[in-house]
Amino acid sequence: MENKLFELAAARRSVRKYTGEPVPEGILEEIMKVALTAPCSFGHRPVEFVVVRDKNTMSRVADCKTRGGHQIDGAGAVIVVMVKQDRGEFWIEDGAIASAYILLAVEQYGLGACWVHIRNRDGKTASSSDELRSLLGIPEGYEVLNLIAIGGKAEHKEGYKESDFDHSKVHYERF
Ligand SMILES: Cc1cc2nc3c(=O)[nH]c(=O)nc-3n(C[C@H](O)[C@H](O)[C@H](O)COP(=O)(O)O)c2cc1C
Repeated sequence: MENKLFELAAARRSVRKYTGEPVPEGILEEIMKVALTAPCSFGHRPVEFVVVRDKNTMSRVADCKTRGGHQIDGAGAVIVVMVKQDRGEFWIEDGAIASAYILLAVEQYGLGACWVHIRNRDGKTASSSDELRSLLGIPEGYEVLNLIAIGGKAEHKEGYKESDFDHSKVHYERF
């Protein structure tokens, strides 16, 4: 049976080396349209994004994560995923689902992407989240979950094959 979403999902891999090319604006807009369709708790759309394309700002974003932040160097854009804290309980889930949608949408355009974690990570003088808050003007009441670096792929990774998946992890009716 045709399963285009499976093909896309299996082809997606985390890419951490980028060509340095900018991501075309039209593609970024299409990716962000997909992000906005993600399901969310209570339907209250708590997830917001800052799309950073300016190289200097991207480098300063990288500085906000002391260990591993500069893996975004060379990306064409970085998306900062933030979640409003007004209903609290499901904020991580909400941000993670929107992020997964972005990762899949990126693959559709043949570009590479990687989740770069921010929650509970440190910057030079404060938490990564708080350093991003002051750098990007993120208001109080929002938490940053992660970044997603996006760019032309400068490393090749094989997609997953059917044989890579352990179907015994799926249990029907009972564990
Ligand atoms: C919650 C979460 C946090 C992650 N944090 C990072 C990170 O900080 N840096 C990084 O390089 N990759 C990070 N990743 C990417 C994973 O390392 C990657 O998805 C995993 O190794 C599987 O590889 P694949 O994406 O190619 O299938 C994260 C992924 C998730 C879902």
